[in-house]
Amino acid sequence: MSKNMHVCKLSDIPVHGIMDFVIGSGERVLVANFRDKYYAYNGNCPHQGTCLAEGFFDGAVLTCSKHLWQWDITTGKPIGLAESPLEGYKVEIEGDEIYVRQANALKMAELFSDISTSTQDRLVQLTRREEYESGSVLYDLGDTTDDLYILESGRVEFELGRDDRTSAAGFILRKGEVFGWAALLEQQPVRIAKAVCVEKSALLRLNGEEAVKVLASDPASGYLVMRQLATLITRHFTSSSEK
Ligand code: FES
Repeated sequence: MSKNMHVCKLSDIPVHGIMDFVIGSGERVLVANFRDKYYAYNGNCPHQGTCLAEGFFDGAVLTCSKHLWQWDITTGKPIGLAESPLEGYKVEIEGDEIYVRQANALKMAELFSDISTSTQDRLVQLTRREEYESGSVLYDLGDTTDDLYILESGRVEFELGRDDRTSAAGFILRKGEVFGWAALLEQQPVRIAKAVCVEKSALLRLNGEEAVKVLASDPASGYLVMRQLATLITRHFTSSSEK
């Protein structure tokens, strides 16, 4: 979806409220109002697909009705127990009409969402978009850590261990999530897990060395990425060890 898609009228959205719509492409879109702004997200929970419009919205925080994952409505970032961000759209308003446009997966990714727009744009220019069939192995244990990946569509799962001792690592990634982080780290030259597409998937690949050079030229953004990277690694390992 590269063009603006019409969703609804401004007047359809209650003040400090939420409403969901199925747009022309068949996607369910949740629109929220907070103060004088409007935000739009995929209307299905990133956990197990529950309709988010059936959840609770206090004017700032959205809570899924099924397992109570929560998100900051202004950023889509997870709060508390939630393990994944909301999948966001860019909102454009023309007169009384609300339109959405799918955002670039890198700009939506938690890892890069807070950095300067100019650095985001430079990173986007370095990405290569590739599509993979279900069953494709993106990398295996011991492979060189060259690229990091941003999931644009589809689903990727991870396995830890070798041969008969292989076990699912418990990570299932969704749109806008980043994996293969080791490509950003100097002390981690090889992969410690196997990444497999479990359905047809589209990915943005970004060379780790080139990304680090861009981030080094904008230390404020580089600091934000590394701080966010530490948070993501901690969250995934905590989540995995609890499963
Ligand atoms: S389905 Fe929404 S939190 Fe589980």
